Amino acid sequence: MRPTLFASLATPAKAVFLLERWAPNDIEYTSMRQLKLSKAFTLLEPGPVVLVTTYDGQQDNIMTISWTMVMDFTPVFAITTGEWNHSFAALRKSRECVIAIPTVDMLDKVVGIGTCSGTDTDKFAKFKLTPVRGKVVRAPLIKECLANIECKVSDIVEKHNIVVLEAVAAYLDNARKEKRMVHAVGDGTFIVDGRKIDRRKMMASKIPQGV
Ligand SMILES: Cc1cc2nc3c(=O)[nH]c(=O)nc-3n(C[C@H](O)[C@H](O)[C@H](O)COP(=O)(O)O)c2cc1C
Repeated sequence: MRPTLFASLATPAKAVFLLERWAPNDIEYTSMRQLKLSKAFTLLEPGPVVLVTTYDGQQDNIMTISWTMVMDFTPVFAITTGEWNHSFAALRKSRECVIAIPTVDMLDKVVGIGTCSGTDTDKFAKFKLTPVRGKVVRAPLIKECLANIECKVSDIVEKHNIVVLEAVAAYLDNARKEKRMVHAVGDGTFIVDGRKIDRRKMMASKIPQGV
């Protein structure tokens, strides 16, 4: 039997939990600071494993995505996913999502999120992650992540399961100590960010102004 609204609010703790979920924290109250949209691609260019959040009109959900692509210097990205995931219906219906970028300390959550489904799991609750309301889209940012990119779906190329996303706002939590992202090899192993090497001078002619 489906629980009634009254029954689901039966304990105060549950009521507070439901209220918090219904009204996520505001971005202003986190240490995320707005990042210039023209720099959003630098978060994806190294190809980290990301979390993609959606809202289908009823529930927030998260999936793990390692197939990402920076399409050019404008904030346009692509991910590869399809009907085999619960999130895809929300992406298609709402035409928006958030790309949240986790760090190495979150790896077990990242793998957990990518091995269960929003059809039967509230992943924000299960993985103790905090949904935060962004400025443009309804899909939530993830407070615990290093960075978040609010995106609108601009195209879905069904033949190749490619979802083209246009970023509309981006945030980076520079106050966060752990900044190392992870990269999926595809066989269940991961590579962690290592030494950063500077070739900015050499690449000057190829780097857009302000990046
Ligand atoms: C490390 C990792 C990377 C993944 N990358 C992708 C991906 O790029 N595209 C995809 O469709 N699924 C990918 N998945 C699988 C989805 O995250 C998984 O099917 C998830 O359960 C979907 O959740 P949902 O059904 O709630 O949408 C990945 C899973 C893991 C663990």
